[in-house]
Amino acid sequence: MCGIVGAIAQRNVVPMLVDGLKRLEYRGYDSAGIAVLDKEIKRVRRVGRVAEMENAAKEINLTGLLGIGHTRWATHGGVTEPNAHPHVSAGLIAVVHNGIIENHDEKRDELKRLGYMFTSQTDTEVIAHLVHHHYTRAKDPARDLLVAVKSAVKELVGAYAIAVIAMDKPDQLVVARMGCPLLIGVGEGENFVASDVSAVLSSTRKVIYLEEGDVANLTRDSIKIWDKNGVAIERTQHLSDVSLASLELGPYSHFMQKEIHEQPKALSDTIEQVLEQGFVPELFGADAAKIFSDIEGIQIIACGTSFYAGSVARYWIESIAGLPCQVEIASEYRYRDVAANPKHLVVTISQSGETLDTMEALKFAKSLGCNKTLSICNVRESALPRSSALVFYTRAGAEIGVASTKAFTTQLVALFTLTVTLAKMRGRISDEQVAQHLDALRHLPGSVQHALNLEPQIAIWSDKFAPKHHALFLGRGLHYPIAMEGALKLKEITYIHAEAYAAGELKHGPLALVDESMPVVVIAPNDTLLEKVKSNMQEVRARGGELFVFADLDSHFSESEGVHVIRTPRHAGVLSPIVHSIPVQLLAYHAALARGTDVDKPRNLAKSVTVE
Ligand code: F6R
Repeated sequence: MCGIVGAIAQRNVVPMLVDGLKRLEYRGYDSAGIAVLDKEIKRVRRVGRVAEMENAAKEINLTGLLGIGHTRWATHGGVTEPNAHPHVSAGLIAVVHNGIIENHDEKRDELKRLGYMFTSQTDTEVIAHLVHHHYTRAKDPARDLLVAVKSAVKELVGAYAIAVIAMDKPDQLVVARMGCPLLIGVGEGENFVASDVSAVLSSTRKVIYLEEGDVANLTRDSIKIWDKNGVAIERTQHLSDVSLASLELGPYSHFMQKEIHEQPKALSDTIEQVLEQGFVPELFGADAAKIFSDIEGIQIIACGTSFYAGSVARYWIESIAGLPCQVEIASEYRYRDVAANPKHLVVTISQSGETLDTMEALKFAKSLGCNKTLSICNVRESALPRSSALVFYTRAGAEIGVASTKAFTTQLVALFTLTVTLAKMRGRISDEQVAQHLDALRHLPGSVQHALNLEPQIAIWSDKFAPKHHALFLGRGLHYPIAMEGALKLKEITYIHAEAYAAGELKHGPLALVDESMPVVVIAPNDTLLEKVKSNMQEVRARGGELFVFADLDSHFSESEGVHVIRTPRHAGVLSPIVHSIPVQLLAYHAALARGTDVDKPRNLAKSVTVE
């Protein structure tokens, strides 16, 4: 949800800023802009992709040794050039901002009374003017940009990561963060700032993650940081293990395609630690044994695809570990009068670790006394794991396609590991069952590879989907959340309206939608609910609906008029939802190709949702 980048160097920073923005583009792609200092503040902004802004910057030969850049996902104000960042106040101050300023109306009115004119509808322009106001207030020729930024952020309510430059300070880049990610890239005689590490990797692998409330002053040779209390502080420097190669497309056409195909590796990498150590609480942190031994239930909180991972886990946790488990969408949980139980383990699930609703829901749960918290996350050092007592990092690697794929299946591995660990600690399963679960995990990457081999058959199906306007997805039990995930994948990247139902619910209303024009995808592996699913399919067929069935060899389906069947790999029992995630991902991907939509950057969306 908006990406920011900044650089102060002894070389022209424009190529670095543009490259950084391209890597951050997954965070928002409504507009892009950069501002550099070249005696004066020079700015280029364009609606649309970074590449368009890059061309515009080339046309005017934009160069500078200090600059900031932004890629926007519109919140306050439409997708227009005046609303694109950077925002400049009186030619003196330029600001890029990720986040939302909640008291922007009040501040705007105050600033208008002081004579400031607004040229955009954004909350960010408020920050630019506010910094300008503090910067120029003292009428002191030796104006202090750092002091001005510190004073301005004290007046802001909301979430922000900002980078600020001043026309008369060619040797200074000031940044601040509260509620949105921001890191400093440490170079030799040059320093950088960015929303995530991918944007600085072409210049440095040394990074410092800023904490909530930090303000930092960057010159070419120094980095000084102050914490939320204004105390000068040293933050740990990390060496990023993210490789540039892992951020490239390689032989693939889209990041989503690449990430779907990376799943056997992502799963093996995530499972590796479990195979080495077994289902032990230490996988979740040093205090896990103590925390897990004293819980009475589980509360899972997440958004979108991560919520569907939690929804699968509910079936596992209740049946295998015998613990009551609730799963809730973060944006609902955080605004409800929750009857919280401090003896419930609060599990937040997030690929990015910075989803605002999930972060706020976690804060809310903690405010209700729930301090037994576990985060399942794919991004190291992100906000959620840092706010949780325990953490399990999925090892999916960078996920760049907006539609989540490998993060989802690795989250399922994490949740299955949690389930078996709890079941073992609670004496709910025998050693033999533990060994069987470990074996099932060991064979999982191979089964997923077999599912990937179904791609050519699925591509043929997707041609039938491309012209449709609606689709239904059905599943039952463990596979109901996979139907929901399949519908989400299809709708977000093809814009086909897709809905998922627990197959047994069909006759209670949605069956009215079914006719010859309605494709119905059914996840139907051979499990205890198969016969029920078969009856539900008859109900569809009797109304002329066309069935597209993912069934394993044991399901005994045969093709007939209006019934298409793809045989999924047979995979031992409870991990079947992970294997069945692959065909629904591939179906959405190929249907999007057939419809010619932007697979990696679907309209109106962004990868990381740091706004409400
Ligand atoms: C859908 C998708 C989103 C995310 C959701 C939560 O493909 O990617 O629904 O799952 O925005 O994001 P994280 O997991 O980063 O908290």
